[in-house]
Amino acid sequence: MALDPNSRRQFLAFLAGSPLLAAAGLDHDWLARLAGNGRSDALLHAADQVATAGTHPVLAAQPPLIARAADALDVFDFEPVARQNIPVAHWGYLMTGTDDDATIAANRAGFDRWVLRPRRLIDVSKVDTQLSIFGSRYASPIVVNPLGSQKGFHKDGEVATAKAAKARDHLMVLSTVATTSIEDTIAARGGPVWFQLYHQSDWSITKQMVKRAERAGAPAIAFTVDLLGGSNRVTMVREARRDTRDCIKCHLGGPPLPGVSGRVDDRDNRRKPNLVGYEKLPPQLEKGTPTWEFVDRLKQSTGMKVLLKGIVTEEDAALAVEHGVDGLFVSNHGGRAENSRRATIVSLPEVVKGTAGKIPVICDGGFRRGTDVFKALALGATAAGIGRPYIWGLGAFGQEGVEAVLAIMHKEFELTMKQSGVTALSQIAMRHIAPA
Ligand SMILES: Cc1cc2nc3c(=O)[nH]c(=O)nc-3n(C[C@H](O)[C@H](O)[C@H](O)COP(=O)(O)O)c2cc1C
Repeated sequence: MALDPNSRRQFLAFLAGSPLLAAAGLDHDWLARLAGNGRSDALLHAADQVATAGTHPVLAAQPPLIARAADALDVFDFEPVARQNIPVAHWGYLMTGTDDDATIAANRAGFDRWVLRPRRLIDVSKVDTQLSIFGSRYASPIVVNPLGSQKGFHKDGEVATAKAAKARDHLMVLSTVATTSIEDTIAARGGPVWFQLYHQSDWSITKQMVKRAERAGAPAIAFTVDLLGGSNRVTMVREARRDTRDCIKCHLGGPPLPGVSGRVDDRDNRRKPNLVGYEKLPPQLEKGTPTWEFVDRLKQSTGMKVLLKGIVTEEDAALAVEHGVDGLFVSNHGGRAENSRRATIVSLPEVVKGTAGKIPVICDGGFRRGTDVFKALALGATAAGIGRPYIWGLGAFGQEGVEAVLAIMHKEFELTMKQSGVTALSQIAMRHIAPA
């Protein structure tokens, strides 16, 4: 039995002061370490385990930290190791949602709304898990989503991620605010990488960024539209305040301010490799925040495929198709945009409906298990994106950790396909799941 996020929190509060803690083989230090921001996935996972195991001392025993990537049994095994390695302010940047972080929990809980309907006695000895998108093929439908500032989690940053994506043959998308350039990332991936676009206030700079991504060999850009009004990242600011290091050494703007988006400070971002080196052309300043007119301009400015990242409604999905958009990411930025408390897996069916099947739809937000990926594909997604899990792998063991995370999630997914009696992604359909 999995608990909903509210009951999980109540359960944890109860657990912290309960003799059950000892009986279940857990200790206060461990819970406190995991609890740091009070809302970590590992903590919720632990609560699930204890809730499932009741007071059984063996099943609920505290898992020791893994010493090698190869020892991991699921992606959650990387989280506490990464947490130990990553400076607390950077950990806050990774794990934060908005307001009370409820949308992070909602993303996870959304998967419990669906259960599997496995089929028996079908030959599943040969299974094709390949994703085909815009004429390219990848070994898996699990996409390595754009995630900024990866050298803040491991010295090798996006290069390690790209090498892991190459080793496991996954589609990777690079963030505008990456700590590695699009050129170096494509070189490390040994093949095309998509570019995620944050627009700039000056269209002449945005245009140059788009041209540069195209020149570097990116076949697609994903324009992120879910932070245009800003976002309130409380956990990030709280964790930054606990960091005793001198942030100014690296962040020219100092520690983050409350009530702003993930950006620590624009002066920091202006040093990021994908945001430097552009010609000083006469500025063409945007008049406000982007609208569909901007999307049209973007489409006209490039031969690359243009996707929108952060669409969660049928209306916007239909508008995207009308405006010639080539694909969508159903995303709430991993619970870091507005605190909607609505899981992306809940938004997915209406977005798929809005596209009328005309363009590919990638869904991200809270994907941690192969069964999550399977459910999204059954609900009409073309692929599923992951964010924090591969960064847990990166922070814990560098490239090897990212590879292990991809391998574990892919293996779980393949197993789910086999148990469901399907041998190709195209066969995964609504009939393979049911409302819980
Ligand atoms: C630390 C962090 C940084 C992120 N940076 C970006 C970014 O630069 N651009 C973007 O479009 N999305 C960004 N995202 C959102 C991810 O692409 C993705 O939507 C999200 O992480 C998926 O949820 P998950 O972390 O629960 O898997 C970021 C997410 C995190 C956690």
